[in-house]
Amino acid sequence: MSDKPKKIALEDRANAGQRQFSPSVARNRDPIRDVFLKFMPDAGKILEIGGGTGEHGVHLAAALPNVRWLTGDPDAASRASIAAWIAETCLANLAKPHAIDVTTGEWGVEKEAPFDGLVSINMIHIAPFEAAQGLFTGAGRLLRAGGKLFLYGPFSRRGIHTAPSNEAFDASLKSRDPRWGVRDLEQEIVPLAQKNALMLEHTVEMPANNFSVVFRKT
Ligand SMILES: C[S@@+](CC[C@H](N)C(=O)[O-])C[C@H]1O[C@@H](n2cnc3c(N)ncnc32)[C@H](O)[C@@H]1O
Repeated sequence: MSDKPKKIALEDRANAGQRQFSPSVARNRDPIRDVFLKFMPDAGKILEIGGGTGEHGVHLAAALPNVRWLTGDPDAASRASIAAWIAETCLANLAKPHAIDVTTGEWGVEKEAPFDGLVSINMIHIAPFEAAQGLFTGAGRLLRAGGKLFLYGPFSRRGIHTAPSNEAFDASLKSRDPRWGVRDLEQEIVPLAQKNALMLEHTVEMPANNFSVVFRKT
């Protein structure tokens, strides 16, 4: 796939060689890991979507030694960073990143399916709604029955922002690209999940007005 035609938004990142560091990951990776360990499978295969710098992937894979962790990102520099983090940490349960764009019909990891878990952190609000649709279609297609989908990020609830800072963030996302924006859990995401045989299982309030959300494939 080409990396050029699409507008991809990346959070602020610093570099050390090809390894990138995201200040937001440094703030949120421990709370995310703790919820992930509580609700997600601790063995089998988990696929990460929009892996970004790769820092969440190595943090979670290190905490889940019985999970084979697959990851991907459509952005080439992000994939290089993920690969550099894998090399740096020498984790045996992490595979090299795939060029996965969830808006495409085939993700290139179909031969690894079914997956026990899928995870996407801070992706669906900073991409067109087609990315959320593609993510849930892929989850419906590639998760085993009983498999889990984990999302993390800001969500509005029943049409209402959960904090003024999220409302401002939503406006700033939309000013950058009108197709982006904080998604509404009950009005937009749960219907998408139901369409793809996924049921909302857990909603966990996280620091800084974010949520971890876990869906279960029926
Ligand atoms: C804001 S970054 C978050 C990265 C990382 N998950 C984190 O929390 O630090 C969003 C990521 O989603 C990826 N992304 C954007 N559109 C995507 C798509 N259609 N399919 C898969 N990943 C996508 C971007 O390349 C980027 O790495």
